[in-house]
Amino acid sequence: MSRLFDDQAASSAAAQVPNPEEIRVRIGVLTGGGDCPGLNAVIRAVVRKGVTSYDMEFVGFRDGWRGPLDNQTMELGIPQVRGILPRGGTILGSSRTNPFAIDDGVERITSNLAAAGVEALVAIGGEDTLGVATRLAELGVDVVGVPKTIDNDLSGTDFTFGFDTAVNIASEAIDRLHTTAESHHRVLVVEVMGRHAGWIALHSGMSGGANIILIPERPFDIDKVCAQVESRFATRFAPIVVVSEGAVPVEGTMSLTSGEVDEFGHVRLGGIGDRLAKEIEQRTGSESRAVVLGHIQRGGTPTAFDRWLATRFGLHAITAVHEGDFGTMVALQGTHIVRVPLAEGTGTLKTVSPEEYDEVSVLLG
Ligand code: F6P
Repeated sequence: MSRLFDDQAASSAAAQVPNPEEIRVRIGVLTGGGDCPGLNAVIRAVVRKGVTSYDMEFVGFRDGWRGPLDNQTMELGIPQVRGILPRGGTILGSSRTNPFAIDDGVERITSNLAAAGVEALVAIGGEDTLGVATRLAELGVDVVGVPKTIDNDLSGTDFTFGFDTAVNIASEAIDRLHTTAESHHRVLVVEVMGRHAGWIALHSGMSGGANIILIPERPFDIDKVCAQVESRFATRFAPIVVVSEGAVPVEGTMSLTSGEVDEFGHVRLGGIGDRLAKEIEQRTGSESRAVVLGHIQRGGTPTAFDRWLATRFGLHAITAVHEGDFGTMVALQGTHIVRVPLAEGTGTLKTVSPEEYDEVSVLLG
């Protein structure tokens, strides 16, 4: 049993009046970073199991780390989680707040948690949100992480929830774009999300039968891209290029623009699709158009797989809290949900390996 529960048991024994209300453990839940299909499914599973199996009570922190930082809370119990399983987004709201970028950020969080009687946190997020959780855990905050991101770039887990939905949306878009590309003899460039990792591009490009897949892990050669475009036109079909927003050309071969930076220091991306379409058109003389899927990939209802994964993550995360196994993150390995140290999930990004990328190369061009 955890320190949390030992302390709880000791204080109620001292009071010598067993009042079940007094021994309910209060758990905070927050969702941070980009919204992601399946967040609500996690919240629902955490709350339903926490209340029914462990007699816990919950407080919802609003908008990621901004919630505990500014003490922005909402009621969170079984009534609040009814009906939310298929809903996209997050009932708790989200933000990219980084308490470590604020002078007294950590002190404000710890004092607000204490004032609210919150003994442990379930933090649902990606690299940045769980990176903060990792550092807070090292400072003694009791926290269990749940890995979310459509990018699928967290280590320690085979998949993050949200990824499957994003891949399905992108893959359907590619299917639809094939017909326009062929009818108009155009190049269609589809820009998908993926800042550092090309998982969405790779999986949707494979499932949608794209002719060219460009990912951040492998700087592209624009001459080779144009040669593949031309060889595709030679087959009387039209090329579809799937490009991750973070993909870059081999240094010095094509100019790019860069955008603003968020609180975690990430450049706001977007633009490679347009840039690439213009370059291809200029070099090959074939009409080229770009489609930027953007936040459509994160919106709407999660796929069945993401609902299943998010639900299992939630069920296992609250059990980890109950057992006092803090500083951990739930993860999917094979078909099992396991716990890994938070630092393992957030330490290094999981990117596409050369082997995984090369595997599909025979189908490209
Ligand atoms: O959360 C991950 C992600 O969707 C990335 O794929 C993308 O680079 C980023 O978020 C976009 O963030 P924002 O919603 O702030 O534009």
